[in-house]
Amino acid sequence: MSSFKGLVAKSVAVLALVSTTAAVDAGAPVVPGAYIVEFETPEQSIQAVDPQSFFKNLTSNNIAAEPQVDLNYELFKGASFRIDAKDNSQGTVDVIQSFQSVKKIWPVRLYSRPAKLIATLDNVANLPPPLSTNQKRSVSDPFSTHVLGGVDKLHDEGFTGEGLFIGVVDSGVDYLHPALGGGFGPGFKVVAGTDLVGDAYTGFEIPVPDSDPMDCGGHGTHVSGIIGANPNPYNFTGVAPNATLGMWKVFGCDGRVGNDILIQAFNLAYEAGVDLISSSIGGSSGWTEDPWDVAVQRITEKGVPCVLSAGNDGSNGVFDTSTASESLGATSVGSIDNTDDPALTVAAHYSASNATSIEFGFAEGAVNGNFGDITVPLYALTLDTTIADDACAPLPDSTPDLANYIVLIRRGTCLYDDKITNAAAKGAQRILFYNNVPTGVVIPGASIAEIPVGMITAAQGQVFIDILKAGSEIVVSFLDSNDAKRIYGVVPNVATPGKISTFSSWGPSFELWLKPEIAAPGGLILSTFPRAKGSYAVQSGTSMAAPYIAGVIALLKQIKGKDFATPNEITALLAASASPVQFNDGATTQDFLAPVVQQGGGLVNAYEAAYTTTSLDLDNIALNDTHYFKSAHPIGIKNTGKTAQTYTFANVIAATAYTLEAGSAYPALFENIELLADAGSTATIHFEPASLTVAPGKSGRVTAHFTQPKTLEAARIPFYSGYVAVNGTNGDSLTLPYAGTTTSLKSVRIVDDADGYPYVANSRFTNLPLTANSTAFVLPGANGTANLGTTYPTVVYVLAIGSRIVRFDVVPEKPTYSTPLILGQPAIGAIAGTPVENNPRNNLLTVAWDGQLANGQYAPAGNYKILFRALKIFGDANNPNDYESFDTVVFTIQYQ
Ligand SMILES: *[C@@H]1O[C@H](CO)[C@@H](O)[C@H](O)[C@H]1NC(C)=O
Ligand SMILES: *[C@@H]1O[C@H](CO)[C@@H](O)[C@H](O)[C@H]1NC(C)=O
Ligand SMILES: *[C@@H]1O[C@H](CO)[C@@H](O)[C@H](O)[C@H]1NC(C)=O
Ligand SMILES: *[C@@H]1O[C@H](CO)[C@@H](O)[C@H](O)[C@H]1NC(C)=O
Ligand SMILES: *[C@@H]1O[C@H](CO)[C@@H](O)[C@H](O)[C@H]1NC(C)=O
Ligand SMILES: *[C@@H]1O[C@H](CO)[C@@H](O)[C@H](O)[C@H]1NC(C)=O
Ligand SMILES: *[C@@H]1O[C@H](CO)[C@@H](O)[C@H](O)[C@H]1NC(C)=O
Ligand SMILES: *[C@@H]1O[C@H](CO)[C@@H](O)[C@H](O)[C@H]1NC(C)=O
Repeated sequence: MSSFKGLVAKSVAVLALVSTTAAVDAGAPVVPGAYIVEFETPEQSIQAVDPQSFFKNLTSNNIAAEPQVDLNYELFKGASFRIDAKDNSQGTVDVIQSFQSVKKIWPVRLYSRPAKLIATLDNVANLPPPLSTNQKRSVSDPFSTHVLGGVDKLHDEGFTGEGLFIGVVDSGVDYLHPALGGGFGPGFKVVAGTDLVGDAYTGFEIPVPDSDPMDCGGHGTHVSGIIGANPNPYNFTGVAPNATLGMWKVFGCDGRVGNDILIQAFNLAYEAGVDLISSSIGGSSGWTEDPWDVAVQRITEKGVPCVLSAGNDGSNGVFDTSTASESLGATSVGSIDNTDDPALTVAAHYSASNATSIEFGFAEGAVNGNFGDITVPLYALTLDTTIADDACAPLPDSTPDLANYIVLIRRGTCLYDDKITNAAAKGAQRILFYNNVPTGVVIPGASIAEIPVGMITAAQGQVFIDILKAGSEIVVSFLDSNDAKRIYGVVPNVATPGKISTFSSWGPSFELWLKPEIAAPGGLILSTFPRAKGSYAVQSGTSMAAPYIAGVIALLKQIKGKDFATPNEITALLAASASPVQFNDGATTQDFLAPVVQQGGGLVNAYEAAYTTTSLDLDNIALNDTHYFKSAHPIGIKNTGKTAQTYTFANVIAATAYTLEAGSAYPALFENIELLADAGSTATIHFEPASLTVAPGKSGRVTAHFTQPKTLEAARIPFYSGYVAVNGTNGDSLTLPYAGTTTSLKSVRIVDDADGYPYVANSRFTNLPLTANSTAFVLPGANGTANLGTTYPTVVYVLAIGSRIVRFDVVPEKPTYSTPLILGQPAIGAIAGTPVENNPRNNLLTVAWDGQLANGQYAPAGNYKILFRALKIFGDANNPNDYESFDTVVFTIQYQ
């Protein structure tokens, strides 16, 4: 078989080639040919099943497969493997699914770590140590994020997570870091764990495990410090610094991780006896059927909370939280921006005309920011500090050879890479960008690795330009970045303090489960980093928020006992005791509460969660859609205090969010989301009884009768939301989130049929729909070999909203009475590798066809069209009427 055939198989899988709108994540891509099976439990299977006999049976069925991971765990028995490209078809998948030993087979999907390195600060040098901005800080723990989430008060009381064992599934941890215990194994902070994949793994390779969970990426070390850093020169600790950690390393130094490895890691952590699991990994999906979701749910059902980041796809708007935070058992965590804006920059020195050297800081480039040990003069391409497009065009002939300078370029207009390329054409070997906005510095996102780059503030850039204008020369001295000191500075975050980070993903799931459930500090977070990468770093992401919640759960377990509540009850406690926050658009805070589909319960309040004497038996109220709306929702209220309490109830409204822009089938991007904040735009609630007295240690019940708002434009999928406030006479004050939509989701358009989508095109020109009577495709067929000229009929489609099942059935131009029916329509079969399950929203996707059908056979040469069908939300997969259906034009296939 030619290797090109493998490429076709790859494009047959879910593969996002182009994004239709900005900043669209391709979701969780599948690994071509890689699958996970779960075995039947012994009661259902005659023989005990083990991976060896499963693989033997594959062989006797003539399916060539390479074993990948054995999943032999109490809560998940199965295996993952690679099917040889020649055997990889839906037919093979169907054969395996039919095995008596197999409960279910899924494709392996890849997930990523949602965080970005950031460094923002206006004046990085010579700033005072962290100071209170708008919060009153406790004496013993003034770290801003701990004040924000109520952790400072628990630290004041001496609760630090002593005795708790937290499992972390991430990129590894630099356990030799002095703030992370300085060692690995019993007696250290990181007591357990392993490396499940090896440093070279990026998601596509066969994993090469070893026993050492040392971090080479950085993400897991940052996460670990948020949970449990010891006191250090930056004067902070983790949320639970006395907890012990286990690290199950699932990433190489770069890239993603397959869900087979994630299932393995979560089960290993569970079997190691952890008290909870924290994982800052995900990929947008909107569905809860991924096997990783299933594995997480089982672990939570055994009493071990699993805390997962909600995702960093906030820019995409509604319906975009990540797997496995969407798992029905998981605690899905959104991000709140810190009240402080800390920055760590690399120190360098400059001197003007041989005067005393002065320290300044710069942010290192994303791929290369190490200038080495070097002293060089500084050259500015222009002395105009207002130039918008510095170095966006080729530099003039008058430019000197830039090789021996540090070249100063203003940020703005074009890509960093364009500026670097233009400067490099004149010999530049190192570049400092200065910011074009007054707010601090960002990591310059250049991708050219050969030329180190950094960024300084606009103010520092102005200082340099003023010196040059005055006719002096500037000489800059750098140290190798591994040796250079870091400059720490902090200013108040004036734009978004204590509000939901704009990057934090919005729920709900397509089946209207309310995610995220809770939010925690995740934006502008200082924590530990690998010693080789500077030891400390500031990062932002829901990746930083999940470990915070994990730390809080450890504190709650320390205070209340390890088994004080089930994972769902803990999520309910966190959500109800949290503080709903006002909406912030990244610059301005509004006077209304952010929608529940963005913030869940709101900002965690660890102290309230620890000491409230009231608990509710729900984590939220999902009011579903108009079709499935139910007015009456009973809420169980338990008084865990020592005196009787009388509770009163109120409806605290939050903003209503329109999913779709007017006239569009697409969820609005963040900046275009229309919010309504008037009382008429949300539900009204009638409480029965109006107040309730509950004796100590006893439970009572109030029923909330909801009435949906009537004035909303149903076609735009409005999510109305708010909180049921439960106030007790002894001061307990809880808020239970609710949300629903006033549309029937089954009527919502899934497929974008504007611009001719879906259509069939030539694989080489996927933006040109085929017209009728196009040239025939000459395909290699079962025994042929593709050559450079081979092209394939390719279905191009766009899903505005996600679909659980998308089908591609092959229909002869002239069906006959003997043509079989697929879901009521004549078709000879599905394209091999389809149907495609659990599709996220918002991607332009392609499926190329090499003539093979899902049963493994090749379609005879002839004229065909493709019947494209996407299942509507809440649709019945067996009912043809529940799909949106489209025919492509007829095209011709022949074989070589
Ligand atoms: C082995 O494969 C056959 C198909 O050839 C299947 O019927 C059988 O159930 C498989 N055995 C087990 C134990 O799964
Ligand atoms: C940490 O605290 C010490 C003592 O108060 C102080 O001298 C030092 O500057 C602080 N460090 C930072 C990075 O703020
Ligand atoms: C927490 O750990 C530190 C050392 O890392 C130790 O000094 C302290 O006593 C511990 N606290 C408790 C409450 O055990
Ligand atoms: C800086 O000092 C060096 C050597 O001491 C000298 O050659 C150079 O001219 C001086 N530069 C300026 C701008 O004074
Ligand atoms: C909404 O209702 C549908 C139909 O009963 C159900 O499948 C879905 O799970 C419900 N969603 C929630 C969040 O309860
Ligand atoms: C509940 O109590 C809190 C705290 O005392 C108060 O701020 C809030 O307004 C009360 N909510 C309602 C709906 O009465
Ligand atoms: C395609 O070819 C058929 C048969 O030759 C002809 O009847 C038909 O009009 C053609 N269609 C187009 C769009 O040219
Ligand atoms: C491909 O080769 C196999 C075995 O060599 C043969 O049975 C089959 O008919 C061939 N298929 C085609 C389409 O030529």
